[in-house]
Amino acid sequence: MARPPMTLIDKLPIEGRRTLIRVDFNVPLEGGAVADDSRIRGALPTIRHALERGARVILCSHLGRPKGKADPALSLAPAGERLAELLDLEIPLTDSPVGPAATRLARDLRDGQLMLLENLRFHPGETKNDDSLARQLAALAERYVNDAFGTAHRAHASTAGVAGHVRDKAAGFLMAREVEALSRVLDAPRKGFVAVLGGAKVSDKLAVISKMLGRVETLLVGGAMAYTFLAAKGHAVGASKVEADRLDLARGLLREAEKHRVELLLPVDHGCAEAFDAGAARVAVDGVDIPEGQMALDIGPKTAALYGERLAGARTIFWNGPMGVFEFDTFATGTRAVADAVADSGGWSVVGGGDSVRAVAESGRAGDIDHISTGGGASLEFVEGRALPGLTALGIRRTA
Ligand code: 3PG
Repeated sequence: MARPPMTLIDKLPIEGRRTLIRVDFNVPLEGGAVADDSRIRGALPTIRHALERGARVILCSHLGRPKGKADPALSLAPAGERLAELLDLEIPLTDSPVGPAATRLARDLRDGQLMLLENLRFHPGETKNDDSLARQLAALAERYVNDAFGTAHRAHASTAGVAGHVRDKAAGFLMAREVEALSRVLDAPRKGFVAVLGGAKVSDKLAVISKMLGRVETLLVGGAMAYTFLAAKGHAVGASKVEADRLDLARGLLREAEKHRVELLLPVDHGCAEAFDAGAARVAVDGVDIPEGQMALDIGPKTAALYGERLAGARTIFWNGPMGVFEFDTFATGTRAVADAVADSGGWSVVGGGDSVRAVAESGRAGDIDHISTGGGASLEFVEGRALPGLTALGIRRTA
């Protein structure tokens, strides 16, 4: 299917109009500063466009999961500061997402000026898609733009409800880029389509694995979930993390792979440790079976080479999820090797999910990836073929 039709911000008359732009500034913080600004940078084309067109821009986002109460540690202030640096502008931040101060600040905006609402999730109505909050947000502006692809899988007041109360609405450029790239993944021909899926739990990736089995030629599995598959096949997995209640499910997926004639590869060697610990020594296990007391925390070099071979011949690549405990340096080797292999492949590549994206960035190979998604959960739900409420609210539908 071609990319779904959507109205883009460049078709929306926003000159001199108060324009509410939902962005996803749910960024990692370290010591009170933004540790990774890729989501902020991702929203820049839309924000710059709106400012250049003379819109009066009201930005809004969530950050973390403050559970409907103000939490200073989750203020959007650091994100606002980073954005102010990138745009070389002063950006006032409201003290709460809605209320008299936000209304006043929005009313006083001049053409080409920008303000930021405080963390939307400080309000209990945001995650409940509360209609009264949706109306209050809508009342701040005359136009609504959603550029928060990373949050498009949430039906919240700022991503879903608000759109029902603003007539003139559109997607931002980031949203459009994401939808276009991920639609291309869904439309890719089976021949030469390789998916790499990693992460901790089969249960988290169940729907995407199942979807991919109907589309890809090869599926490379890594991360802790690979050990649920290996256990399901009757291999010894030592002390590795296994979802014991998902073994039948894993067997079902293996059968599905056979039915679709998908080559589903699992690790053939491993980087293990005696304990789940950042400082644990890496023990190489050269074979599929893992001895008692050893816990697999990474794929081994043979697996990395095998996966690298398949990736080298790929025409389309979709990668989501790390190959091991990427946050422990000793066990990041496999994920880094896959990052290099994806970057080196001549195939058209899409990478999503925090750890995979970080691995690509750390290897300095981001420029060799065709599309790096700013959405973890959202990109997965999109390729699962599910309707994302943030897109539906803009009238964008695609069924895969
Ligand atoms: C994300 O980081 O996946 C999005 O910003 C959504 O955040 P959430 O999982 O807290 O809804």
